[in-house]
Amino acid sequence: MDNYEFLLITELENYFGNDLKRINHAMKVLNFAKAIMQKEGGDSHIIVPSAILHDIGIKECERKYNSVAGELQEKESPLVALEILRKIAYPDSYISEIIEIISHHHSIGMVKTLNFQVLFEADWLVNLGEDYKDVNRIQKETMINNNFQTKAGMHLVKILYLE
Ligand SMILES: [Fe+2]
Repeated sequence: MDNYEFLLITELENYFGNDLKRINHAMKVLNFAKAIMQKEGGDSHIIVPSAILHDIGIKECERKYNSVAGELQEKESPLVALEILRKIAYPDSYISEIIEIISHHHSIGMVKTLNFQVLFEADWLVNLGEDYKDVNRIQKETMINNNFQTKAGMHLVKILYLE
C-alpha cells in the first residue's frame, strides 16, 4: 500500500463514518481490482483511487434524492471524489481519467479502457454477492457474459458464482 492509498482509505473511512457497509464495499472492490490488475495490467494510479472512491457519492444520493440508483451515483460521486483527490494533493495528471471512470462506473461501453474494465468487473464481483444473491443461474450467466471481458475477471466470477 502506498502513501496515497493509505490517505484515500483514511478519507473514505472519515467520509462514511460508521457506515461500515459502504466502507467494506469499497475495500472489497479494491481487493478484487488489485487481483484482476495483477494478471491483466492496468495503471494502479488510476485503478486504486477509482476503486476506493467509485461509490463515494452515495450519501449525497440518499440525501438529495432518497435513492441510490446507479445513474445518480454516477452523477454525484465525481464531485465528492474530486474534492478528496484535491484535498490529498493527488497528482493532477491522473485525476481526469479517475473522474471519467467514476462518472460511468455503472455503464459499460462508455469508457473503453482496461483501467475502466478492471474497476467495472471488480464492482460486479462484489455486487453479484451483495445485490444479486437471489437471481437464478441463467440470469447470473447473462449478467456475467454481458459485463466481463478480462480473463482474470471471468475466472474469478466463475469460481465465485457459477460453481
Ligand atoms: Fe460499487
